[in-house]
Amino acid sequence: MKPESKSAVTASGVTKSFGVGDSRTVALKGTDFHAAEGELHLVVGPSGCGKTTLLSVVAGTLKWDAGDIQVLGTKLNGLSPSEITAFRGEHIGFIFQQFNLIPTLSCVENVSVPLLLNGTKRAAAERKAAELLELVGLGDKGRKRPTELSGGQQQRVAIARALSHEPRLLICDEPTSALDSETGHQIMDLLSTAARSPGRCVIIVTHDPRIYGYADRITAMEDGRLKHVLAGDPLKQFVQSHR
Ligand SMILES: Nc1ncnc2c1ncn2[C@@H]1O[C@H](COP(=O)(O)OP(=O)(O)OP(=O)(O)O)[C@@H](O)[C@H]1O
Ligand SMILES: [Mg+2]
Repeated sequence: MKPESKSAVTASGVTKSFGVGDSRTVALKGTDFHAAEGELHLVVGPSGCGKTTLLSVVAGTLKWDAGDIQVLGTKLNGLSPSEITAFRGEHIGFIFQQFNLIPTLSCVENVSVPLLLNGTKRAAAERKAAELLELVGLGDKGRKRPTELSGGQQQRVAIARALSHEPRLLICDEPTSALDSETGHQIMDLLSTAARSPGRCVIIVTHDPRIYGYADRITAMEDGRLKHVLAGDPLKQFVQSHR
């Protein structure tokens, strides 16, 4: 991170548990996390260490138990649930691990949803959606429903949808998991461009070493906590060791 970089996300001492009694799982045990504007930031760590939970909390889609979270200069702690929903709709895009496409809508309609929610007229929203589908290599699939597409194609529709309203913070949970190498690199080029636009930030959870080379920083998590952060030369060495 450059010294003058502004914070996109600062989370301090965040805790979150699920369930009660014997079935209680503590997913976040007081974790810290920091991502800056203008960077592509990867989050890595073993399955079950709390990556999706942390990013769902940062995206405002999941309520946390304790700790402070600031996103793009706004403290989420101080917002009501409806204010968090409005903030997310305007500023945050989320690509879910399970894609979460709406099965009854066509691909163009799915990609249009964030724009329609922000008040864009249907014709303009669908025009933008068609352009984005073209960019992710699905220009000919706009009228199809998600169930008619392969897993990798559905993942690219989810990516187009998350990019549609040009959110300042884009959070992607395993965005290349279902993609072949070449398509994965095309998608990463698209996400890198978004990350490096002024005032924006892209955070990606990944198990995919093929994309480590795109990172400006990598946060490693372990057992509900931050383990370490890699940048600069240690990051370069880490990327080299995974080539
Ligand atoms: N809705 C839920 N109800 C109960 N437990 C949950 C829930 N969501 C997550 N957990 C638990 O919290 C812990 C962290 O889960 P999380 O999904 O954040 O892990 P992850 O790091 O994203 O894993 P993966 O790499 O497999 O996606 C796990 O032990 C998981 O079983
Ligand atoms: Mg996960």
